[in-house]
Amino acid sequence: MDGKRWRRSVVVALIVLGFISSFVSHAAFTPADNYLIACGSPHNVTFLGQTYIPDSIQPSVSFKSQLGNSFSATSNSSTPLAVHHSARIFTSTTSYRFDIKQQGRHWVRLHLYPLPRHNLTSASFTVVTEDFVLLHNFSFSSNNGSYLFKEYAVNVTANSLSVTFIPGNGSVAFINAIEVVSVPDFLIPDQAVSVSPTGHFNGISLLALETVYRLNMGGPLVTAQNDTLGRTWENDIVYLHVNSSAENVSVDPMNIKYMNNVSPEIAPNYVYATAENMGEANVVNGNFNMTWVFPVDPSFLYFIRVHFCDIVSKSLNSLIFNVYINTDIALGSLDLSNQAGILDVPVYWDFVARASADSNTLTVSVGPDTTTDDSNAILNGLEIMKLSNDARSLGGLSSVDALLVLPPKKQKTAIIIGCATGAFGVLLFIGLCYFCVVARRSKDAPPGIPWLPLPLYSLTVTKMSTTSQKSGTASGISLASANLGRFFTFQEIMDATNKFDESLLLGVGGFGRVYKGTVEDGTRVAVKRGNPRSEQGLAEFRTEIEMLSKLRHRHLVSLIGYCDERSEMILVYEYMANGPLRSHLYGTELPPLPWKQRLEICIGAARGLHYLHTGAAQSIIHRDVKTTNILLDENFVAKVADFGLSKTGPSLDQTHVSTAVKGSFGYLDPEYFRRQQLTEKSDVYSFGVVLMEVLCTRPALNPVLPREQVNIAEWAMMWQKKAMLDQIMDKNLVGKVNPASLKKFGETAEKCLAEHGVDRPSMGDVLWNLEYALQLEETSSALLEPDDNSTNHIPGIPLTPFDNSVSMIDGGAHSATDDDGEDAATSAVFSQLVNPRGR
Ligand SMILES: *[C@@H]1O[C@H](CO)[C@@H](O)[C@H](O)[C@H]1NC(C)=O
Ligand SMILES: *[C@@H]1O[C@H](CO)[C@@H](O)[C@H](O)[C@H]1NC(C)=O
Ligand SMILES: *[C@@H]1O[C@H](CO)[C@@H](O)[C@H](O)[C@H]1NC(C)=O
Repeated sequence: MDGKRWRRSVVVALIVLGFISSFVSHAAFTPADNYLIACGSPHNVTFLGQTYIPDSIQPSVSFKSQLGNSFSATSNSSTPLAVHHSARIFTSTTSYRFDIKQQGRHWVRLHLYPLPRHNLTSASFTVVTEDFVLLHNFSFSSNNGSYLFKEYAVNVTANSLSVTFIPGNGSVAFINAIEVVSVPDFLIPDQAVSVSPTGHFNGISLLALETVYRLNMGGPLVTAQNDTLGRTWENDIVYLHVNSSAENVSVDPMNIKYMNNVSPEIAPNYVYATAENMGEANVVNGNFNMTWVFPVDPSFLYFIRVHFCDIVSKSLNSLIFNVYINTDIALGSLDLSNQAGILDVPVYWDFVARASADSNTLTVSVGPDTTTDDSNAILNGLEIMKLSNDARSLGGLSSVDALLVLPPKKQKTAIIIGCATGAFGVLLFIGLCYFCVVARRSKDAPPGIPWLPLPLYSLTVTKMSTTSQKSGTASGISLASANLGRFFTFQEIMDATNKFDESLLLGVGGFGRVYKGTVEDGTRVAVKRGNPRSEQGLAEFRTEIEMLSKLRHRHLVSLIGYCDERSEMILVYEYMANGPLRSHLYGTELPPLPWKQRLEICIGAARGLHYLHTGAAQSIIHRDVKTTNILLDENFVAKVADFGLSKTGPSLDQTHVSTAVKGSFGYLDPEYFRRQQLTEKSDVYSFGVVLMEVLCTRPALNPVLPREQVNIAEWAMMWQKKAMLDQIMDKNLVGKVNPASLKKFGETAEKCLAEHGVDRPSMGDVLWNLEYALQLEETSSALLEPDDNSTNHIPGIPLTPFDNSVSMIDGGAHSATDDDGEDAATSAVFSQLVNPRGR
């Protein structure tokens, strides 16, 4: 019936507009299952052009429990929507059972409106399918809004689907209208890119999704009638961060050219034909992002789909921008015209992320890429869907089994729920649950934010709380007992940085900003100013202080001092003249580094990490090893920086450190990601990624590349296994590398990238192997080019592997000689350049 409607509209489009072939084949999707049920209604209901059939007469829908447990209610008074005229009210647990013709994803849509005269506003109930908890202890009295629309996507793998209503203690449950409609299999993939922690997120096909936001950027409300899958797309304006100024753009929807694997089922052309765009007037310095802020439940992961269509450019390759999720870069240097080679072609990308640390919001931003002159960025559409948790629930920690075991309305109920939750809590604790910490914290949080009725309310509240409540927390750190080197007054810091002059800005990270500075004796320094509002930054800050105050090594950055006046959290480091390693590999105009120098840099960084892992009483895991955290001094000596995420490693009574997964895009140990077991071998994996990056001079993760090339670890391993790494290495190195040295290097990187931590070498072994690769290179260059060593040579790096001779400063044991050493090092230069694109 509805297939007909869609086909008819396509035919009209064809005749009227002469639209071309791809549209026809795509639009042929007809849902095999298409139930639109008007619950408790005595007659058919027409809503948004579709007919909803009464539940009492729809033949393929049946009740599992006696209909005697339910009664219908109708209202003659005006209700918000036609589907709200009637309701089915349940006094005990009751299921609708739908015959399913074709297994796979289905929309399950619930329309809820508390009709007057039945106390439905105070009713509290739970809705489940066989496998998933959709709505847990929902009640209108504890949620604002006069009605509720919920949309879920569940994968049905049986010949029927039941939707069960479980009334809360002493309550009834109710439903006004319910939809169960087939979704094309390609709509929701099994895999997406995970942002922070980074990697591939697999297994979405096993999860249930709940639509929480679906936006048509810069365009009007698109209703079910204008969407081949019956979806609703809201305008984005209420989510737009106030500081951003965005401009609407639109083109004729018929200009949109669906190509490749994007069809109107992904999103209607009305969505792609409008966008928010930065507008040239707004981006004089290319200095801000367009940001949308979404209140979300921090205990859940979210599936995020960004839709783009370049409707603004006049020519190819003229719109290049970055996409961020929270502060993490999701798509870097994105050039939409590269995807299809023409403009007006829709594309989309999928990500999985959670709320940014210590907040109840998820943000999506687009902003100009600073490496290009162009200063525009666009977004056409955005979908955010909640992913079911380990209890297979979209609200709370109870599984369907735990909820259905209960005889409702008996006193035992609460106790059983308590036990079930408690037992699950134990499982969480032993590390089975990904959401360990956050989920528990949010146990008392209200259930999911209603989707359509109340976006404004939640948004306002969240914004207020993030901007006002968190200031001043910086003073919460006690620095009294730590030995942190020299104390700087705030005035001294102001003088050193010319009052935090923006032209001295070296980088911006999750915790705040880093400036170049000069202290009164002329020493150049890097000044890291913590953002007092960022609690994540605060924790990382503290870790870094604690770590750095205990560690001194030639290949670790040195802390010169700090300032904590006026609630400021400022750290002062030695300045590293040559900045991050990454900027010498790609993305800048800097000259390519010769192979030997790259080896020496890798060896230096490996030495620093080896010291972290073995030099201290308790091993320290860096957790964020990447090319932006390896800094180079004036002599290109590598030093490992940014201990913000560091953790002490396994001690005797612990087999692993279990904690929220942290790290950076593309560098994350897959085993750590899967099992949340943090060991030194996670750093070894990240270091393997660094090695590949050094050889191939491309980012660890580049989502713009074809799928098999996105992840450097996978891509380079593929070539390494064929012993053909030379095929993808930096063109500048071709013919200039001793093959034996390259082979050794490739093997070393391969071992670091082993799937399982136990198969990876220790940092000590890595160091030894890199030294060996360097020797092979030196031997060959000594034979071939006896005079060509001077430019590459870095003085002062001894070749003996285990250089622990540099002191480790433990707590207050800061000896005079160390101070002297430090002062000498201080005259050198340093920059604590945190990844300028955030982590
Ligand atoms: C209700 O709608 C169905 C399907 O469109 C149709 O077959 C049926 O005749 C309608 N019933 C009434 C009473 O209009
Ligand atoms: C649904 O689940 C089945 C069984 O796990 C799987 O084979 C199938 O690919 C899934 N379908 C979708 C669309 O995710
Ligand atoms: C845009 O947002 C990202 C992520 O928050 C941030 O790292 C970047 O510095 C921002 N860019 C500008 C120019 O503000």
